Amino acid sequence: MAFFFFFVLVCILILLAIASYVRFARRRKEKGQGHGGYGGLKLPPGSMGWPYLGETLQLYSQDPNIFFTSKQKRYGEIFKTHLLGCPCVMLASPEAARFVLVTQAHLFKPTYPRSKERMIGPSALFFHQGDYHLRLRKLVQGALGPDALRALVPEVEATVRSTLAAWDGRVMSTFHAMKRLSFDVGIVTIFGGGLPPRWKAELRKNYSIVEKGYNSFPNSLPGTLYYKAMQARRRLHGVLSDIMRERRERGEPGSDLLGCLMQSRADDGVAPLLTDEQIADNIIGVLFAAQDTTASVLTWIVKYLHDQPKLLEAVRQEQAAVREATDGGRRPLTWAHTRSMALTHRVILESLRMASIISFTFREAVADVEYKGFLIPKGWKVMPLFRNIHHNPDYFQDPHKFDPSRFQVAPRPNTFLPFGNGVHACPGNELAKLEMLVLIHHLVTGYRWEIVGSRDEVEYSPFPVPKHGLPVRLWRENRTVDRTPPCE
Ligand code: HEM
Ligand SMILES: *[C@@H]1O[C@H](CO)[C@@H](O)[C@H](O)[C@H]1NC(C)=O
Ligand SMILES: *[C@@H]1O[C@H](CO)[C@@H](O)[C@H](O)[C@H]1NC(C)=O
Repeated sequence: MAFFFFFVLVCILILLAIASYVRFARRRKEKGQGHGGYGGLKLPPGSMGWPYLGETLQLYSQDPNIFFTSKQKRYGEIFKTHLLGCPCVMLASPEAARFVLVTQAHLFKPTYPRSKERMIGPSALFFHQGDYHLRLRKLVQGALGPDALRALVPEVEATVRSTLAAWDGRVMSTFHAMKRLSFDVGIVTIFGGGLPPRWKAELRKNYSIVEKGYNSFPNSLPGTLYYKAMQARRRLHGVLSDIMRERRERGEPGSDLLGCLMQSRADDGVAPLLTDEQIADNIIGVLFAAQDTTASVLTWIVKYLHDQPKLLEAVRQEQAAVREATDGGRRPLTWAHTRSMALTHRVILESLRMASIISFTFREAVADVEYKGFLIPKGWKVMPLFRNIHHNPDYFQDPHKFDPSRFQVAPRPNTFLPFGNGVHACPGNELAKLEMLVLIHHLVTGYRWEIVGSRDEVEYSPFPVPKHGLPVRLWRENRTVDRTPPCE
């Protein structure tokens, strides 16, 4: 059986290689004839590697960051390469990232593999461009905006408390625990606090099956992860339809994200803007965008704080003051409390920079585009390299040092892009930060923790996280914090 799959895989690769070689040769011929058709512009420097495979093997055979960094050293801020059948232009400067994501965003559309689009839902906002995207984005931003978040603080706090309580006295993978936390926060953001536990459990179980298939080889043979994931996705749509039907019957759409999407109206003010199908795709899309991202960053934060006892002590000082303001944790945290955590906030920013869990993003040029005298041909992929920018000593001195104090001064424009930039920038960024602030508050004021086993290796899941998701033993510790002056 395994051999059969391997055989099929090899056949497919060979066919793809032939197909792309033919295309490659044709393109070369066209270029030869249409001399000067691009106004004499040249392609960016760089190497394209082998037909079809391009430089994919070089990228995956080493730490991908080494690949990008060595390219940048050799060629500068813009260079071409070829990955999995696609010619790409990589961009490693703040200026180029702004060009693609902000000023010329209309010339670069989002691009994802078709199989992933089908898995998340083709109507989810990150696959779109133009009017549909803009309208949807307003709705999502509204439901994740300051007013909504203010009201959400108690739910986020309750979720954080129960995550930590379930971990107390045990060894758990930090990433695993944080995934559960960010899923639960996603659920309260989307459905409010009142989703019946049965529905929540059904969503969680089916969603986890979808997730397992997301990075598997796409095929529709029964029994494969991809097949199971597509089936679970259908069941998720079923659960979401039930929830929407129930809300309509009650006549209360709700003010949460689901409610915002359900109440949206087209220009005539009467017809619904979105079908239930489109709403479901977007709900699954938000869960997807919210979970592993936030969980990966939180995992790094637990590690960074652990590895720097002095910094941890300073954060503990700051949070002890907040704890006193909440009467030793007897009163709930408020939005205002979360705005008084200056050092903790800088720790979060520095963790986002250091870990750069979204190392780059993809766009596709919708026309031939000129950038600084270079041609980016229509149809080529374009990759702004966030991590390269975040680790460039020109913008962040001593970039490999974890130093939250660097954020006492705002970073230069377009040099700090953990949440992207422009029309597709992350609408969940304030929610993610809120979640991190509340987690750190309860973690450092109520608990101690130690890392179990190795901790300097990294795995990709698909975002970088410490090996095995950072197994940590955590225990409750409610000795009053000593009030010696902090030493950041
Ligand atoms: C630390 C956690 C997070 C990080 C680092 C992060 C990062 C990003 C980045 C870099 C993008 C832009 C991608 C691109 O331009 O190609 C993005 C988009 C997006 N994020 Fe996040 N995100 C996080 C958490 C969240 C959360 C909690 C939510 C929702 C509750 C969310 C929802 C979205 C959505 C819906 C988009 C697509 C926006 C669009 O295409 O218009 N993210 N995120
Ligand atoms: C998935 O959703 C269905 C409802 O459509 C539910 O019956 C089932 O228990 C859920 N869980 C799993 C693991 O499939
Ligand atoms: C921690 O606090 C709880 C209740 O607030 C108390 O019962 C317990 O004895 C305390 N533990 C320590 C080690 O102080």
